[in-house]
Amino acid sequence: MLPETDLFQTPLLYFQSDVIAENAAALRAALPDNGRLIFSVKSFPEKSLLESLKPHVDGFDISNSYEEELLTQINPSFLSVVGPLASTVAVDSIPGKSVILYQDHADDAISAGSHDLLGLRVRVTDYFQTSENTQIFTRFGFGRNELLKRLRSSADDIAFHFHAPDHRLMCVSLFSSFFESLQQADFALDRIRVMNIGGGWNTSNTDRLRSVCNYIERYVTAEIHIEPGAGLIHDAGVVICKALRKHTAGTQKYLTIDASPELHLRWSLPAFLDQERYGGDDEIQLCGPTVFEGDTVPIRGNFDVIKCGDLLVLSGLVSYSVSWNCTFNGIPRISVCVG
Ligand SMILES: Cc1ncc(COP(=O)(O)O)c(C=O)c1O
Repeated sequence: MLPETDLFQTPLLYFQSDVIAENAAALRAALPDNGRLIFSVKSFPEKSLLESLKPHVDGFDISNSYEEELLTQINPSFLSVVGPLASTVAVDSIPGKSVILYQDHADDAISAGSHDLLGLRVRVTDYFQTSENTQIFTRFGFGRNELLKRLRSSADDIAFHFHAPDHRLMCVSLFSSFFESLQQADFALDRIRVMNIGGGWNTSNTDRLRSVCNYIERYVTAEIHIEPGAGLIHDAGVVICKALRKHTAGTQKYLTIDASPELHLRWSLPAFLDQERYGGDDEIQLCGPTVFEGDTVPIRGNFDVIKCGDLLVLSGLVSYSVSWNCTFNGIPRISVCVG
């Protein structure tokens, strides 16, 4: 159910909270009983969405000071801090909360205070041996040798953090390689209290999530944390925008809308939600109101039926869109509504 059209201004990002709840329930069902479902704030740093997510997740993952400031308004019961921020974050401003800081480099200062775990970010690519897997998938975190050195120099219990931009790497063979190298180095696996296995999890890869969790549980009794961003929200929201102008140049068809592909809509390709009315095979370039030549994005639809002033509802654009929102040349930020 979309909101009444005379009640909002376009462009609008509209979320259905029941879809978010269903996504959260599906991911939680794939986790073991002591698992934690954490929302990755970078995928949508916006207060009303975070508030509506709060009852469905166990905590939030933050990676910059803007997200930290937002989270102090949300009053989370658990925070995972991932990234360079970890060494500087003022988590003591969130008193009494459970916080894990994940460090990126061996020489980072390890903050004390409310956190009693040494959080270490593992560079996923270092745990693959075969040549086709040796590309650099993530530049953050500890390499294998550096990690072992860091572990030897600490007596603390450990929280490990893994995240790979190519999510297929988050598989059983990564963890077998990881645990085996720790065992070879005589590291006592019972010191591991948390295994955070990152983002990228969604309702279509819950089988893999379950098998990875089962596999990890063969080695350790640690809590397993996941921190999906897109997977919790991507199909829960739509962008509602207005058709402003149409023009053609040769065979190319352009449709200018009041949402900016450059400033508002990011990450994935859009699709018209109202297929019955607008569906079709014309290749249309959606253009935003900036002056950037890059402010276009391709879409398929029926160009002739679209009239200037029509409200268009686009799916596939939600995650990460607000992370890029700015007010370049006076273009308003997109509004967000959770229904
Ligand atoms: C460390 C970390 N955790 C979680 C996420 C969320 O990933 P996704 O939105 O694919 O679930 C990201 C995304 O970049 C990330 O870098």
